[in-house]
Amino acid sequence: MKEQLEKLSAESLAAVAEAEDVAALDALRVRYLGKKGELTAILKQMGKLSAEERPAMGQLANSVRAKLEAAFDARRAELEEAALEARLEAEALDVTLPGKRTRAGHRHPMDIVIDELKDIFIGMGFEVDDGPEVEESVYNFDRLNTDEGHPAREWTDTFYLDEESRTLLRTQTSNMEPRIMETRELPIRAAVFGRCYRKDEVDATHSPMFHQMEGLVVDKHITFADLKGMLHNMAVQMYGPDTVTRFRPHHFPFTEPSCEMDVQCHKCGGKGCPTCKGEGWIELLGAGVTNPHVHEMSGIDTSKYSGLAWGMGLERAAMRRFKIADLRLMFENDVRFLEQF
Ligand code: DAH
Repeated sequence: MKEQLEKLSAESLAAVAEAEDVAALDALRVRYLGKKGELTAILKQMGKLSAEERPAMGQLANSVRAKLEAAFDARRAELEEAALEARLEAEALDVTLPGKRTRAGHRHPMDIVIDELKDIFIGMGFEVDDGPEVEESVYNFDRLNTDEGHPAREWTDTFYLDEESRTLLRTQTSNMEPRIMETRELPIRAAVFGRCYRKDEVDATHSPMFHQMEGLVVDKHITFADLKGMLHNMAVQMYGPDTVTRFRPHHFPFTEPSCEMDVQCHKCGGKGCPTCKGEGWIELLGAGVTNPHVHEMSGIDTSKYSGLAWGMGLERAAMRRFKIADLRLMFENDVRFLEQF
């Protein structure tokens, strides 16, 4: 029995020393010290010993058990420490690596221009609106004196949303003129900002989605002189005190008389250059004195009230304001572009 115990002791201590991980160590503990383990099996034979042999053997067995237990505990501590080391090494943070820079966003030039225009017109007593981009043809066309058959209503120009051409993506912010006139108390001073849609091919000056600003004034004694004064004032506030404007006759179904306003080219000062395509002028907006028929359709008494309106493409206004050469840059969301404003 003594030999059995010594053999077990030597064998198990060697096995413990070689255990490679905690799971293997636990399996060894069961094998040697468990209830059905090898030490227990040896101790079961104690009954066969003589009374003189028993105490010495008991002592030996106890010391083997104590040694083994101590060995298990020591090996377990070792393995756990090694595992921790390995984990720390694997998860190590190299604090000398350069960090990742998070880039803060930047305001879009369109946004900047819209805010400037809001400031300018709030300063002149206007209220600011937006309005629906999905619109009824009635508001986008009919109520603006643009009847069926007018070329602006063609399917080739307008994104219709049904077969009957009743709903569409608005082609102009002018859709808000009748909407405002039929709901708001007079007098009206409204500035509308928002997206519009037309079936245009994308190029340096066109996009199927673009932004417009609409201005609408309805009051007593409104004349073309008010229109000229207000819009020139706007151009000066946007582009500086030396800005030169001119008004050219034009035609729109909803205004009479109608005009377009140009600003003198900032690049060549009116001499003609590639930016203004040799014209010396850059067209900025369409405008006019509201056609009385448009007022009547919205229930406004034309014997007392008159009005004026204009519509301005905001991409073009922003491009002139920030000297941007290509419209497509406005929609590409390239931070290198945006960071310049
Ligand atoms: N809606 C016109 C367009 O998109 C611009 C315009 C012209 C608006 C004259 C007006 C206006 O309010 O009076 O081309």
